[in-house]
Amino acid sequence: MRRLILLICMMCATIGAMAQTMSLIPAPRSYTSAAQGYDITYKTTICCDEGAIPAANYLADKLGIKVSSQGDIYLAIDDRLGAEAYQLSVYTDGIIIVGGDYGGVFNGVTTLLQLLPAEVYSSNLTLPCSVKGCAIEDAPRYEHRGFMLDVCRTWIDKEALLSYIDLLAYHKINSLRLHLTDDEAWRIEIKSHHELAKVGGYRGGDSPIWPRYGKWNKKWGGYYTQDDMREIITYAAQRNIKIVPEIDLPGHSLCLATIHPEVLCRYDHNTAAALGYDVRSVICPSNERNYKLLDDILREVSTLFPSEYIHVGGDEVDFSQWKRCPDCRAFMQRTNMSTTEELQAYFMLRLSEILEKYGKRMAIWDDVVSGQNIPADTHVYGWQSVNRCRSVAAAGYPTIVMPGDYFYFDMKQSEHEPGHDWAAIFDMSKVYNFSPAAVGFTANEQKNIIGLEASFFSEAYASRNPESPAYLHYQTFPRLLAFAEVAWIGTDSRNWDGFHKRVVDYYDNLDAMGVYYRLEPPVVEYENGKLSASVSDESTLFYRQEGSDRTLRYLAPIATNTPAAYRFVSRRALAISPTVAVDDYFEVITPAFDITSSMSDRAQYSFDKAEGYGRIARTRRAATIGDWVMFTFAEPVECRSMKVATGNFQLPRYIFESGDVYVSYDGENFTLVGKLKAGAYVIENSPQPIKAVRIVCTSRGNGAEWVSIQPPTIYPVIK
Ligand code: ACM
Ligand code: ZN
Repeated sequence: MRRLILLICMMCATIGAMAQTMSLIPAPRSYTSAAQGYDITYKTTICCDEGAIPAANYLADKLGIKVSSQGDIYLAIDDRLGAEAYQLSVYTDGIIIVGGDYGGVFNGVTTLLQLLPAEVYSSNLTLPCSVKGCAIEDAPRYEHRGFMLDVCRTWIDKEALLSYIDLLAYHKINSLRLHLTDDEAWRIEIKSHHELAKVGGYRGGDSPIWPRYGKWNKKWGGYYTQDDMREIITYAAQRNIKIVPEIDLPGHSLCLATIHPEVLCRYDHNTAAALGYDVRSVICPSNERNYKLLDDILREVSTLFPSEYIHVGGDEVDFSQWKRCPDCRAFMQRTNMSTTEELQAYFMLRLSEILEKYGKRMAIWDDVVSGQNIPADTHVYGWQSVNRCRSVAAAGYPTIVMPGDYFYFDMKQSEHEPGHDWAAIFDMSKVYNFSPAAVGFTANEQKNIIGLEASFFSEAYASRNPESPAYLHYQTFPRLLAFAEVAWIGTDSRNWDGFHKRVVDYYDNLDAMGVYYRLEPPVVEYENGKLSASVSDESTLFYRQEGSDRTLRYLAPIATNTPAAYRFVSRRALAISPTVAVDDYFEVITPAFDITSSMSDRAQYSFDKAEGYGRIARTRRAATIGDWVMFTFAEPVECRSMKVATGNFQLPRYIFESGDVYVSYDGENFTLVGKLKAGAYVIENSPQPIKAVRIVCTSRGNGAEWVSIQPPTIYPVIK
């Protein structure tokens, strides 16, 4: 082995000046090109040290060649290189990857894949294939380069999950946290309480689990059996990814509490507004029997997952439930606690004791840490803000930095794109430019950062088309490329322009991987009566004129007096850009209107506040069949489109699950024009100005305690 390292060092010394790094993402620490490379043929074989066998099999599979006791591609392990570090050399006689450990070897393998034609990612590589000569030395900046996937709000089945694990592995992500339980679902089989997944894995239809975010009338979902999970864990481990399970406690436990109502606090809860559903979501920490159930769950989770750390949540607990609970109040008095925060710390401590018993350590969200006696080795995931991350790190906890305004990939990428905006609106440039020092981490605080994590919460995915990975991909690529590079190289040698160019070059790889990524927005300009659009990559531009249902290829500037009538997108393979247009295209009008309804409104979210636009109104109760909402305009409104919607902005929550839409041009006679989809409907090309719109609920309420009513979104006629 020593001989190999010597050989690599000699090559580095003799190859000469640093050549331009190829489109490697993340970029390696050093890349030196050599004059001559190696041709992989069908006769090439891979040999490896024993500890590298899974990586050798992985590579052999990608290349369509065999693993053998002798080979021109050699995967070796030398622990002097350090955790996850590797050296990769491509020279005339072969290819050598030396990793500091298994992870290092695998990281070298993923770099080698990026040196090959893109077809290696679509299993279409034809041999022989030349690999350019080079010597690469590389090591990660952060030991934890994580991604969190919410498989609760949207069910992501085993096959889809394995495909996504491939995408993470290509980019040297080494930790996948599965958010396995939440209010909406329980996604992991627990053999001692089989009802948790069997019932909790499905919502809607005749399931007792409160349906939300789509698939209302149909029972929908699934769960991972323990056998499935072992397969996922092994698949991920081969790809140098550890699976960290998250069982989100004591809040976000509505699903668990629906199946086991005895875990809730002991007080009479009025369920009238929720049509009989008990929508409380927090486990009672003062009920000793709950710890027996949690022990059963955590024992099985600890046995199933090899991960040293088990994430047990701790975020967003609704303390009002504990404050109303006679048992919690008595418990706090008995134990001299004055705040519910102390009570939560007590609960988390009990969980850490259970985990310790099963040989595990605890990981939690940052909510729990406020000077409480949480064990010092607890991994704390900072999500609420950069400042929360800083205070966790300042308190000495091993900190995973994942502030929502940088790393929550369920956020929108620009204003008119899908996603949420409560944390921020950002694209990959913001992700790429994240720097702990620049956002205020002191040197001491930085020492406690063990890594970064990106995440995808999936509320908005469920109501789209979760049978396709398109939305998940669009939200996470290319932001994940930026994240992977920051987590791998840190901030010292970062260069946005160089990275950006590499990303565009890397599109070939994303195409071959089958990723539905986001292309950058085309640039649209209007000058001297001509509307033009351009892209800076090799994607193809299309446009559509308002009122037309045809999408046309954009070939030359369009002569027009109504530039706002055109919108553009670019596409390539499965990728698509956001829709772009001149600013006027997105402008809305806000004519005076009234909301009336068969349901009365809530003081804090009254109809008249929504009538001012910008706010949503809430009814006092859930809707059922026959309930209606009407929007009546002071004057009939001429428009090119009008969206009427129940539910929150950006998310179909608190909606009419189904409903009919009626339009009136005179305020008296109404015509049925369509059906609500995900609580909303867009009236397009109305033949006459609209005086009123009435939506009528056609589904029984499902436990949402109210209906949210949005002001209509109205786009003016283009003149
Ligand atoms: C979270 O986003 N509630 C951790
Ligand atoms: Zn209680």
